[in-house]
Amino acid sequence: MSMVVKYSVTCSYLAPPKGNARYKVVSRAGGKQSPRKRPTPHETDDQDMGRVGVRDSWVIRDQQDRGECRVGSAPNEAEAKRSNSNAHSRGEAGEEDKMYQKIKAALAAKFVRSDEIARIIALAVMAGKNILLWGPGGHGKSEMVAEALAQVVAEAEIFVQSFGEGMDEATLWGGLDFRALEDEKVLRYHPENSFLNRQFAVFEELFDAPASVLLALKDTLTAGKLRKGSQSYPMKTKVIIGVTNRDPSEIADLGPAAAALIERFPLQLKVFWPSYKAADYMELFRKVAPRLPGADLNGTQAVLAELVAKAGEGSPISPRSAVYALGVVKAAAAIRGDRMVHKEDLVDLRFIDGLESLAANIKAELDVAYERAAAEGRLQDAERKLHVLLAELTAASGSPIKLLQAARRFLAFQDEVANLKVTDGLTDRRKNLRDVTAEKAAEAQRLALENTRI
Ligand SMILES: Nc1ncnc2c1ncn2[C@@H]1O[C@H](COP(=O)(O)OP(=O)(O)O)[C@@H](O)[C@H]1O
Ligand SMILES: [Mg+2]
Repeated sequence: MSMVVKYSVTCSYLAPPKGNARYKVVSRAGGKQSPRKRPTPHETDDQDMGRVGVRDSWVIRDQQDRGECRVGSAPNEAEAKRSNSNAHSRGEAGEEDKMYQKIKAALAAKFVRSDEIARIIALAVMAGKNILLWGPGGHGKSEMVAEALAQVVAEAEIFVQSFGEGMDEATLWGGLDFRALEDEKVLRYHPENSFLNRQFAVFEELFDAPASVLLALKDTLTAGKLRKGSQSYPMKTKVIIGVTNRDPSEIADLGPAAAALIERFPLQLKVFWPSYKAADYMELFRKVAPRLPGADLNGTQAVLAELVAKAGEGSPISPRSAVYALGVVKAAAAIRGDRMVHKEDLVDLRFIDGLESLAANIKAELDVAYERAAAEGRLQDAERKLHVLLAELTAASGSPIKLLQAARRFLAFQDEVANLKVTDGLTDRRKNLRDVTAEKAAEAQRLALENTRI
């Protein structure tokens, strides 16, 4: 998967914050501020830190002043490596690196093109920053996030919320407290049942929620707590991962609430494939096929990859649909009772969105192939029969009666061959049969006459 990293984090300080030490975003640098000398570790004043001279970047310091992370506008591998090796030489590195490696390995076991997601999640967990993963559906965003988080946090600390159109504020805050409403006539919520009470939150289809929900969410993220009338509840959430198929540059069009909210997600990654060629789908199939039930694929895997790539010309088939396609053909072969997938199993691709016409073509192609195979079978039967007749003709030599009988059989067979249904490409063989049969019928009649004494 190729991704556009809108922001990256490079850290000179890599050891995990100990005790109560927390990373803190102290400023957003850049804008109109003029670059100034790098501040000393004691210059923790936000304004001062804002003039570090890193344009359009966030500067994060841990409270013990052991270093800083920059969330910048472009990844800088060289700098990251340097930072890492510095930290290693100080004997501090290890935990984050291990965490990243662990996420990376877990994702690579199940997904292709997962490194960037592993990296951005590791960075977010480390720096306590929110992420926005965006891009077309079916590219593994949700599943990779779930898998990655499962590597680093307990399930009880993860909250997954789907922000569809039906989403409302009450749901966001854990549901309405009906008793309070009934007894005291006040609007209260159950934030202990909401994302606020978990360290990690995943917001699916974040920007599909109504503007009122996005606005309420933005206010809470800004305040760091829920404030609703008399109710106040602290936000425990360290990292929120927003998932959306909307392009952040278009999110402002959804309204000011969405535009303001997006700024709370400084780490952004577009998840997509730069190309959707047969080779790309092959890579995907090689990774996922062994874990899918059903028959084996062998050569059909390449055929399927070609078909999927071709069907997606103009509007690419998502990896999700490609994996469905793979599962369907494996299952189809299993239903046939075969351990290997054959081309006929591809016909069931008609059940997959976007592949219907492809399956119809395969079906038509297969019908022709079956017809050809049946015609081939009929021709072979006829050719075998001709051999038997030829043998009878040889055996009849010298016997006018047997020769006449043979001649009759050849003539009857000639009619049979004339009515033989064959497909294009097999007509020459049929003509050859007819010619030989006619020739032998005439020969048998001639021999019968020659052997008859008058
Ligand atoms: N990079 C990938 N590697 C392996 N499988 C993938 C990949 N991307 C998508 N898939 C398949 O697509 C399915 C759906 O992915 P999902 O996480 O729902 O996508 P998204 O959240 O981007 O819409 C996954 O279960 C997986 O089978
Ligand atoms: Mg999803």
